[in-house]
Amino acid sequence: MCGITGYIGNRNATPILLKGLKRLEYRGYDSSGIAILDTDRIKYLKKAGKIKELQALISKTSIYGSIGIAHTRWATHGSPNDSNSHPHLNESGTIALVHNGIIENYEAIKETLIRKGVIFQSETDTEVLVHLISAIYYEDKKLSFEDAVRAALQEVVGAYGIVALCKDEPENLVAARMGSPLVLGVGENEYFLASDASPIVGYTRNVIYLDDGEIVSLTKNTHNISTLKSKEILTKTLTEIDLTIDEIEKGEFPHFMLKEIHDQTHSITNTMRGRLNFQDGTTNLGGISEFIPSLINASRIYITACGTSWHAGLIGKHLIETYAQVPVHVEYASEFRYRKAIIDSDTILIAISQSGETADTLAAIKKAKELGALTLGICNVVGSSIARETDGGIYTHAGPEIGVASTKAFTSQVTVLTMLALMLGRKIEVAKNKGQNLISSLSELNKDVEEILKNQKKIKEVAKFTKDVNHYIYLGRGINFPVALEGALKLKEISYIHAEGYPAAEMKHGPIALIDENMPVVVLAPMDNTFSKILANIQEVKARKGIIITITDTKNSELEKLSDFILYVPPTHQHVFPITSSVILQLLAYEIAVLKNCEIDQPRNLAKSVTVE
Ligand code: M6R
Repeated sequence: MCGITGYIGNRNATPILLKGLKRLEYRGYDSSGIAILDTDRIKYLKKAGKIKELQALISKTSIYGSIGIAHTRWATHGSPNDSNSHPHLNESGTIALVHNGIIENYEAIKETLIRKGVIFQSETDTEVLVHLISAIYYEDKKLSFEDAVRAALQEVVGAYGIVALCKDEPENLVAARMGSPLVLGVGENEYFLASDASPIVGYTRNVIYLDDGEIVSLTKNTHNISTLKSKEILTKTLTEIDLTIDEIEKGEFPHFMLKEIHDQTHSITNTMRGRLNFQDGTTNLGGISEFIPSLINASRIYITACGTSWHAGLIGKHLIETYAQVPVHVEYASEFRYRKAIIDSDTILIAISQSGETADTLAAIKKAKELGALTLGICNVVGSSIARETDGGIYTHAGPEIGVASTKAFTSQVTVLTMLALMLGRKIEVAKNKGQNLISSLSELNKDVEEILKNQKKIKEVAKFTKDVNHYIYLGRGINFPVALEGALKLKEISYIHAEGYPAAEMKHGPIALIDENMPVVVLAPMDNTFSKILANIQEVKARKGIIITITDTKNSELEKLSDFILYVPPTHQHVFPITSSVILQLLAYEIAVLKNCEIDQPRNLAKSVTVE
C-alpha cells in the first residue's frame, strides 16, 4: 500500500510530486508528505488526512527545488497522524526518505539505534531505515550515499520500495526495491520515480521497471542501476508505457468507480481482442499456449487470489471443471501460503490479481514455485510483480482501475477464465458448436453492458428504497454464488452496509432466521437448470417478508409476482450471466453509496493495492 514518488531534473519538483501523489492516492490516503532539497537544506511538509490537506499546507509556504520525494500513506505501524507520516528524516535533517512496504525486523534495528542514542519521532517501522542509513553514512566518511543505502538495506528484512535524498549529495536521488513496486521514468535530463507509471505518463513514455533487490542512483543526467549485493552496473531495457492520460483521469464522471463501470462497454471487448476464434469455437491465449498440455493433465489446479479476484477464481473453478474436467481448488492466498497444501510437479497454481502486487498472492506463488508447481498469472497491470514472478500468464487488458472497489477488472478476470476454460475444454471433449455458442454470447457483451447501463433509473429506485437498511443479503446458485459474494463485497466496501452472500439453498440452514420486512435480498435468477429451484428459494424468503430484488435474463410471470424489484439483463449464455449481472450489482452498490454520501473511490480503511501481509 502507500504510494511513493520522486523527481530529479531542472523543473520545480513540488507540483510534479503533488500531481504524482494525486495519481497514487488510490494506494492509501491516511496521510501524505513531501521533502524537497531546497538550496542548502531539506524542506519538508507532512499532514494526516487526504492529499488536499498537504496541498493546503504547501500553498501557505514556499517549498521549491529540483530534487524531491513524496508519499501517500496507508497506515500499518502507527496511527495516521502527522508524525507518523512520511517523509522521515534523520536527526540532523540531512537525509529524508519515503517508503512503501514493511520492515519486519524494525524492532531489533530500533533497539540498537536507541542504544546508540538515536531519538525516534514516530511509531513507524520506516523511521529505522532513515536512522540506519544516516548512522552508516556519517560513521564511514568514505561511503557514498548510495553505498550507505545499500549497506543499510542489507540489514533489513521485509518489503520496501524507497526513495531517499541527502543534503550532502545534492545532485543525487537514490531508490531501491524489494517486494514493493518501483518504476523509473526516463526523461530528457530528468528522472521520475513512482510506485506505478501513472505519475510518470504525462512527462515521458520511457520507463524502466526495477526488479527486487535493485538499487538506482540518479543524477539529472544519469541513472546507474545495480543490485543490493553488487555495485556492478546493470543494463536494463527501456519499456514504453502503454497508458494514456484519459485512462487515468475521471473525465466527465463524478467518480472513478462509475467511469470504470461504464468502461465495461469496451474493457471486456479489449480482454477478448484477438483471442476469440468463432470458426473453431475456441479461444487463443498466447501467454499460456505452451502450458495447455500441462493444464489438461494437471493433477489439480489451485487458483489463489484475494478479495474480488478470489471471487473471480470461484467462477473460474466452476468453468474449468465444467469445460475441462480438471479438479480446481480456490484458496485465499493469505491462507494458502501458510498451510500444507498438496503440491507436486503436476500441480498448477493460477494466481489472479488486478494490481499484480498483492503481497499474499505473491507469497503464495513463491511458495508453490518452491514446491515445484507451474505458476500462471491472470493480471491487469502489465509488468507487475505477479506477472513477472509467474512462469506464464494472461493479461486482462481492462485498462487502469483506480477506484478502490474493483469493477471492470473483475469482469475481465471472469472473461479470461471463461476463455481459458473453453480453450481447455475444446482440447478435450467439448463440441465445436458449444464453443461457438459461448463465443457468440461473449461477443455480445459490449452491447449487453450498454443495455444494462441504460437501465440505471430502475437501479436508482432500488437504491433509494433500500439505502437506510443495515443489512443486505445476496443469493445465487452454482456459478452465481460467487457473483452473490462479489455483490455483497461491493456494497460493504463502499456503502458500509453489512452484506452477506450465500448459496440460495443454504438459507434454510440458518441465515433465513435473519429475514424480516427490513431485509433486502438480491437474488440472481438466470434461466438455467437451477431456475425452478431458485424460484422455490425466493418463495421461502418472500414468506418471511424479505424485500426481493431479482436479477434475471428472463421474463417470467411468477418471478415478477414474487419480486419487489426486478432488474433485467439481456438474455445470454448461462456462463456469461455472471458478467452481466455483476454490472448491475456494481451499479446498485454505487447508487446506494452515492445516496449515503460515502467516499466512493476511497472508502474508509481501504487501499487499492495491498502490498502488506
Ligand atoms: O489487486 P488484487 O486483485 O490482487 O487485489 C485483491 C483485493 O485486494 C481486491 O480485489 C479488493 O478486494 C477490492 N477492493 C475489492 O473491490
